[in-house]
Amino acid sequence: RDNFWASNEGKTPPFNTEPGQLEQRAKEKLSEGGWLYASSNAGLSYTHLANRQAFFRHKIIPRMLVDTNKRDTSHKIWGHKVSAPIGFAPVGINKIYHPLGELPVAKVAKELNLPYCLSTAGSTSIEDVGKANGEGPRFFQLYMPHDDELTVSLLKRAYDSGFSACILTVDTWQLGWRHDDINTSNYAFYHGIGADLGLTDPVFRKRLAEDGIDPVTMPNEAGAKWIDNVWHGRAHSWEKIPWLIQTWKEISGGAPFAIKGIQSVGDAKKCVEIGCDGIVVSNHAGRQVDGAIASLDALENIVDAVGDKIYIMYDSGIRGASDVIKALAVGAKFVFIGRLWIYGLSIMGEHGVRHVMKGLLADLDIAMNVAGIQSVDQIDRSWLESHPRGQ
Ligand code: FNR
Repeated sequence: RDNFWASNEGKTPPFNTEPGQLEQRAKEKLSEGGWLYASSNAGLSYTHLANRQAFFRHKIIPRMLVDTNKRDTSHKIWGHKVSAPIGFAPVGINKIYHPLGELPVAKVAKELNLPYCLSTAGSTSIEDVGKANGEGPRFFQLYMPHDDELTVSLLKRAYDSGFSACILTVDTWQLGWRHDDINTSNYAFYHGIGADLGLTDPVFRKRLAEDGIDPVTMPNEAGAKWIDNVWHGRAHSWEKIPWLIQTWKEISGGAPFAIKGIQSVGDAKKCVEIGCDGIVVSNHAGRQVDGAIASLDALENIVDAVGDKIYIMYDSGIRGASDVIKALAVGAKFVFIGRLWIYGLSIMGEHGVRHVMKGLLADLDIAMNVAGIQSVDQIDRSWLESHPRGQ
């Protein structure tokens, strides 16, 4: 049966969005390197598995005979009224998955009125992504270089291109040890596929010139230098963050600032203390610290500690609407989706992203109808039966 979100103008759905099948189709479509980059996890995939397992620990308790005929999936995030508390997670180097890179993703996000988050490792310029996203709500995810002038330049470009919040990712100074990806990922990086966002930056171009690197005749060296700016391997520390917040606030006239990659209660408290507007509880889809706490368990700890003090967002391991409901019930206000839309993009470009994300919205709408949920804002822990954490 059709519903508003799933409506496909009467056509047969182009592919099955069940996550296992989605993965299989994406694997068939992508180059070996592309597939391994998207699918690889840190170490032995313990954290990836823990992310999924944590969802099994919570069960939804449906309620019957509730008037759900007028369901409301909408949500307000930082002044934007959006279709659902669901956003496109920042994902680097989209040209690995489709020749048009980030553009079709940003376009679909606008169409569906879901927030789009552009990665600093994007393979398209900030300005072009801004144009593709049009009036859509969009945020800029920062991988902070150790070059303040470059950081300021990136933030200014983002603000001037309509990105209305900055999300700093703090869990990826360098890529985790991902067995599947170690040999093949270098291919994309050192052939400059991922470098467009940097190569279009005036400060970065100045740095290239200082090093005698001509991006036209030496694209591999230029690409490698950009990647070295993004995943530089050198940690920042808390002392640097007030400067960044102040800089972003000055550039943007006070727009929201959030930190992504928070997993401990102590770090969440620090974010509150230093004046962050939000946090994203995330373990980067299990791609960084193998053996780390499941993101959903971290969410529970953090919501208990600071849930009333800061806007808490969540990602890692969401594969369907029931996972969205569970994360909201545990206490997240908003969730991001990564691999699902990456696979849609890989399979069928713009249509694939649209199909996957419309499907997720349809799934959420239907789940609310059959579980007796009238509005997403209503979802709290009373909807869950939660089993104790495993050994
Ligand atoms: C990511 N993620 C990520 N995060 C970020 O802050 N900047 C980035 O450039 C990327 N790039 C990226 C590439 C790929 C291939 C993946 C799978 C993930 C992490 C992403 O934003 C998000 O935290 C997770 O993807 C969410 O988990 P799921 O939904 O993929 O399970």
